[in-house]
Amino acid sequence: MSFRKDTLIIANWKMNPQTTEEAKKIASFSDEKGVVICPPFVFLRQVKDVVKKAELGAQNCFLGNPATGGGAITGEISPKMLKKTGCGYVIVGHSERRNLFQEDDVLVAKKTEMVLKEGLTPIVCIGEKDAGDVEQIKEQINKGLKNIPLKKIIIAYEPVFAIGTGDPCDVDEAEKKKVFIKSILAKIYKNGEETPILYGGSVNRKNALLYVKKASFQGVLVGGASLKAKEFKEIVKSIF
Ligand code: PGA
Repeated sequence: MSFRKDTLIIANWKMNPQTTEEAKKIASFSDEKGVVICPPFVFLRQVKDVVKKAELGAQNCFLGNPATGGGAITGEISPKMLKKTGCGYVIVGHSERRNLFQEDDVLVAKKTEMVLKEGLTPIVCIGEKDAGDVEQIKEQINKGLKNIPLKKIIIAYEPVFAIGTGDPCDVDEAEKKKVFIKSILAKIYKNGEETPILYGGSVNRKNALLYVKKASFQGVLVGGASLKAKEFKEIVKSIF
C-alpha cells in the first residue's frame, strides 16, 4: 500500500553537516519525491543545485518589515530571502528554538503569518515537554495558531521528550495526541481537523511507517536519521 499522496517526509538537518561537500552528499541520497530537505541556511543554494525530486525547506526565519521583507536585524533571514532561494517550506517554532532562543507562541504566530505572506508553507512545530501535558499543547495551538488559516499550514507534533533521545513517543500515544490536536483545531476553524499533522521525535527506519500507517500521521519529521544515508533511504522506502 502506498502512502505517497499527501504524505511528506521532512529532513531536518539542524546544525549539520559542517562542510558543503557533505551537504551535497547528504542531499543527493535524500533526493526523493515527497521529501523536503531542510539544511542550514548556508547550504540551501548548494542543496538546491543537487536535488531534482526533493523540495527545499528552511529550519527557521525571522520577521522582516511587512512592506519590504527586510530590516535592520543582524544575523537573521527573512521569508522573502528563503523564497528567492527556492524554499517552499519553513519550519516554525521547533522546540529547540522555543527552548534555546525563548521563542514563544506569539512570535511563532507572527513568523507563521509572514511565511504565509510569502506564499511558503509553514511547518509549525508543537509538542509538550512532559508526556501527557495536554494543556501545553492546547496553549501552543490557541496562541500560536491564532488567526492563522489552517488550510495553508502543516503541523508537526513533536513531543519534546522524544526529540533526539532515541526514545520515540509510543505510536498509540502519538495517535491519541493527534486526535486531541485535531479536536482543538476543529474548534478554532470549520474543517480545522483537516490540517495535515506530521509526527517527529526519534523517527527511525523501524518506526517511521507505523506513525503513518497505524497512527495515520500525514508524514514524519526526521532529525538525526535524516543525516544517515542508509537509514534515511530505508525510511523513505518504507513510507513511499
Ligand atoms: P530527531 O529530531 O529525529 O533527531 O529526534 C526530530 C526533530 O527535532 O525535528
